[in-house]
Amino acid sequence: KYAQSAQSGPLRDRIAYQGKHQLLSVDQFSRESVEELFRVADLMQPIARRQKVSRVLEGAVLGNLFFEASTRTRVSFGAAFCRLGGSVCDTTGFTFSSMAKGESIYDTSRVMSGYVDAMVIRHPEKGSVAEFAEATNIPVVNGGDGPGEHPSQALLDLYTILTEFSRLGKLLDGAHIALVGDLKYGRTVHSLIKLLALYRGLTFTLVSPRGLEMPDYILEQTGRLGHTIEQTNSLAEGLKGADVIYATRVQKERFVGEEVEGYTADFQVNKAMVDQCCGPDVIVMHPLPRDSREGAHDLSVDLNHDSRLAIFRQTDNGIPVRMAIFAVLLGVEGLVQHSLRDV
Ligand code: CP
Repeated sequence: KYAQSAQSGPLRDRIAYQGKHQLLSVDQFSRESVEELFRVADLMQPIARRQKVSRVLEGAVLGNLFFEASTRTRVSFGAAFCRLGGSVCDTTGFTFSSMAKGESIYDTSRVMSGYVDAMVIRHPEKGSVAEFAEATNIPVVNGGDGPGEHPSQALLDLYTILTEFSRLGKLLDGAHIALVGDLKYGRTVHSLIKLLALYRGLTFTLVSPRGLEMPDYILEQTGRLGHTIEQTNSLAEGLKGADVIYATRVQKERFVGEEVEGYTADFQVNKAMVDQCCGPDVIVMHPLPRDSREGAHDLSVDLNHDSRLAIFRQTDNGIPVRMAIFAVLLGVEGLVQHSLRDV
C-alpha cells in the first residue's frame, strides 16, 4: 500500500513544526513521512477495534479544547487517547472557558501546559491554533482553525483513499479527484488538496458554486507541483470519470455578506449523478457533517446503502489515524507493538 521509506530518526522530529512536536498543518509532511504515519495507523487498527489492548499512554492526560461545534473530531481524538490508556479533560465553547472572561490565548495555553501532556484545539480564527502552539512546548494538534486547515481530517481522508485504492487494486499516482462544494471556507479540502499533491500526476476537478472557489494560494501551490487543475461550476462536468468524489458542506456560518449563485438542487451529489458520471469503482467521500436542513443540497442520503459511499469507513479511520498522531507526537510509537495484549 505504501512506498519504501529510506528516512531515519524519529518521525516526530522530521515532521516537527518550528522545532516542536506539534501538528498544525499538512505542510509538515512529505510523502514518505505521511506513509510512515499510516504504517503506525495500521498498527493501531486492532486496538481501535478493541481486538487488542495497549496502554502506552497510561497516566497521560489530553486537553481537548473546542471553541467551535464538533462531534467527530472532539470525540474521536478523545477516544483515540483513551484507547491508548490515557485520559481526557475537555472544555467546549467559549462560554464554559475563562476566555469568556477575557483570558488570552497565551495565558490559556500556558496554564493548560501545566495540567495536560498534549492539547487538541479547535478555534474559529484562522492561525489561532498556531498562537496556542507558540505559547507551549507540549504537543498541540490543530483540530480545525476557522477556514484555515484541518490536518488530522486530511490525514484520515488520505488514509481512507489509499486503503480503498489498495482494495480496488488502484494507484493514487495519476488519479482523478473531484472536490465539490464550498472550496473557499472548507478547511478540510484546503488540507486535503495539499496532502494529495504529494503524489504524482493527479487531476483535480474543483466544483464549487460561483463565489466559493478554492483560494488562489492553494491553487498556485498545487499547480507548481505539476498537477492538472480544472475549475467548473457544473457538477456533471466535474464528476465525469472521477476516481474519488469528495463532497463538502456549504459553510454558511463563515459567510461575511456573501451571496452565493448557483447553489441549487443541481449541485447535489446523488445516486443518479454518480451513476451518470462515474464507474463502479468510484469512491464517494465527505468529511461530515452533511447538512440535512431545508435548502441545503449536500451529499444525498440515497447513496447510504451503496458500497461506493465510503463516508462511514472514513469516520471509522479517524480513530487509528488519530491514535497514530498521538503515538508519534508523544514518541511512543515504537512501544506499541510490544505492548499489545489480548482483550
Ligand atoms: N469532520 C469534522 O471535522 O467533523 P466535526 O465538525 O463533527 O468535528
